[in-house]
Amino acid sequence: MPLPLDDALAALRPLLLDPQHLVRAVAAGRQRGRTPSVTRAELRPVDLKTGRHLQVVEHDGRSPRTTNEPYDGAAADAVDRLMGEPFGNWHVQTTTETVQVRVTKRGEAQVHREALDQDQRTGHDRVKPRVLADDDPLFRALGAGGDKRRQVEAFLRQLLPAVEEIGRPEGRPLRVVDLGCGNAYLTFAAYRALEERGPVELVGVDVRERARERNSSIAAELGWAEHVRFQEGTIADASVWSGDATPDVVLALHACDTATDEALARAVSWQVPLVLAAPCCHHDLQRQLSASSGPEPYGLVARHGILRERLGDVLTDAFRAALLREHGYRVDVVEFVDSKHTPRNTLLKAVRTGATSPEVAREYAGLARAWGVTPYLRTLLDDAG
Ligand SMILES: C[S@@+](CC[C@H](N)C(=O)[O-])C[C@H]1O[C@@H](n2cnc3c(N)ncnc32)[C@H](O)[C@@H]1O
Repeated sequence: MPLPLDDALAALRPLLLDPQHLVRAVAAGRQRGRTPSVTRAELRPVDLKTGRHLQVVEHDGRSPRTTNEPYDGAAADAVDRLMGEPFGNWHVQTTTETVQVRVTKRGEAQVHREALDQDQRTGHDRVKPRVLADDDPLFRALGAGGDKRRQVEAFLRQLLPAVEEIGRPEGRPLRVVDLGCGNAYLTFAAYRALEERGPVELVGVDVRERARERNSSIAAELGWAEHVRFQEGTIADASVWSGDATPDVVLALHACDTATDEALARAVSWQVPLVLAAPCCHHDLQRQLSASSGPEPYGLVARHGILRERLGDVLTDAFRAALLREHGYRVDVVEFVDSKHTPRNTLLKAVRTGATSPEVAREYAGLARAWGVTPYLRTLLDDAG
């Protein structure tokens, strides 16, 4: 049942100004026949040295404008100002519920409230703030389903602090490449999340022509074509920036089988400062294990098909981590998302330090010799010289 807009906004106001329970709010779109002064505004509490503030990020199609307003001062004015703008919808997430207000053609408010389920909360009634709001126009354009969204969201939670850790380049946009991008859920979501914090150029690479066509038209639809490009071709051959320019960040989410190895090998050859790769299937090593009896007494593990398969997964990623370390990366291997959203939930997070040691190479060689295998990444790195 539609409500008078003023009543709906008055009910939102205390939620927006609640420093303890607001997680994030987004105002976007426009009311019929009216245009707000900015295309989108986002509000969230942030903890600064001087205490908790309401952070307001306003987008006007150029660079975002960020202000941090004290709760005992200008926060209320900022909220009132934004509520006076003719936005077409508000999406407010608190620690316990989400509230959406959509303005109808008649200028009334359609209000939808939903209590968060346990899965969305963390302990002590706190909620993990979403990196991207559920109603972000991006998701409508992509049509991404629940599990893919959760994977992408979880991936972004790893990506954003890692980018802060390596730092952004001065005087040019951050260059990110998504290798094996498929339908580009991660590519677009990463662009969205990263560009809020500074300029970004993103290239998605996939061997499928249809993926490039579809993704390029979505980039154009979202108005991002200047910053998000797609290339058709193999990871091994992709030349994503012209001249000597190399990426700052390599992403690979569920690139099939040895495509993950291709992505890691490219990252090593480019000496990329940050690599985030969540591998998919691991057939290469599984095949090699089938042909090997394995070292005693561990051969027993490789005897059974399902155990051999799992062992193949674990060994492949252990080899990948070791080889990255051998090539000057600090590597963390983490579970980035709950297994109910994908069984392929291992993430290799590698930050280039340039430091390595003979011990790392010795450990790698010992494990490869013991199992009588040559991981594909080793072959690629050796071929690259
Ligand atoms: C399982 S999909 C994952 C797509 C996307 N990253 C995601 O998580 O939604 C793997 C993608 O990798 C692409 N791919 C596989 N091998 C490739 C290669 N060697 N070079 C480029 N793309 C590859 C496939 O075409 C496919 O779109």
